[in-house]
Amino acid sequence: MLSDIAFSDYKKDDIHGVALYPATMVAPVQKKVLKYLFEHADINSIFDPFHGSGTALYEAASLDNNIELYGCDINPLANLITKVKLKGVSDYIFENISLLEKYISNDNIEEFGFRNIDKWFRADIKRILTKIRFAIIRIKENKDRLFFWCILSSFIRKYSNTRNETFKLHIKKDESISRIKNNLIENFLSTLRYYAPMFKCVNKDPYLYKEDVLENFLKFNDNSIDLLISSPPYGDNLTTVTYGQFSSLSLYWIDPNDLELDGWELNSYSAIDSNSLGKSRRKNNISYYGINLLDPYLRKIDLRKQKKVINFF
Ligand SMILES: C[S@@+](CC[C@H](N)C(=O)[O-])C[C@H]1O[C@@H](n2cnc3c(N)ncnc32)[C@H](O)[C@@H]1O
Repeated sequence: MLSDIAFSDYKKDDIHGVALYPATMVAPVQKKVLKYLFEHADINSIFDPFHGSGTALYEAASLDNNIELYGCDINPLANLITKVKLKGVSDYIFENISLLEKYISNDNIEEFGFRNIDKWFRADIKRILTKIRFAIIRIKENKDRLFFWCILSSFIRKYSNTRNETFKLHIKKDESISRIKNNLIENFLSTLRYYAPMFKCVNKDPYLYKEDVLENFLKFNDNSIDLLISSPPYGDNLTTVTYGQFSSLSLYWIDPNDLELDGWELNSYSAIDSNSLGKSRRKNNISYYGINLLDPYLRKIDLRKQKKVINFF
């Protein structure tokens, strides 16, 4: 059966290291679990309703080329990363990286900004990110552009003034901000060249939904998916990770034409989190089936804890 699944030595030096994302699954664990399931059951389709950076879907596709892939996530950055991981890049990726390099070295500086940009980016970093942003927009090949945004998303975070230790936006101390070394262009281009060969090998056609899973579930008929595998957000305010806040600076920089947006996502740094699962603002709607299932346990705990459990559920 499944023996050791700790994989404590696992470093993300594979395709999953392409972009930073909070609370990701450990890829070799997923691979092992999926391999076991594929060997013991007839599985032709898989659905991850909270796909995040797409770890499970990617691992499933790498084990079975023909499996149908379905995924949902409310966060447009998660959607972008997963799309890139599954769809890969074009055959001309290296030519497009060279073209991008040429566009970046162009002296034209265009204007770009969003609310509080100067709080989150040092002036020289902002200038370079603006150059990179407009250079990417000039790339015609869709897959390659998305690959560039995906990798840029992590650089935006790394070179911003937000602290690395937390997923929330917290400003660094002035000394730390002044210590940020502006080697953004070299690092970005070398990272593109490092990951490009890995992405040339993938070419899947997944069904990815950028929406609230509670709406998404309604699109599936009963028994239409063979395997559901996921790591959901945890439903209480103490432990819920701020996926949206983590992603917001990157989402402001990326061309909205290359993101799946409904329009509300960039209203504030916390818009995505406020609409995600695990936030207290959600109504505690729970089905009849759910209440019956929970009832024996709820009776044993006080009212305050009951609310937490219902929210989590
Ligand atoms: C633990 S993460 C998934 C990480 C993923 N397994 C990976 O390896 O990257 C949970 C995900 O749930 C998403 N999420 C939270 N509320 C959601 C909702 N209402 N509908 C869809 N996705 C949601 C978050 O955006 C986040 O990406």
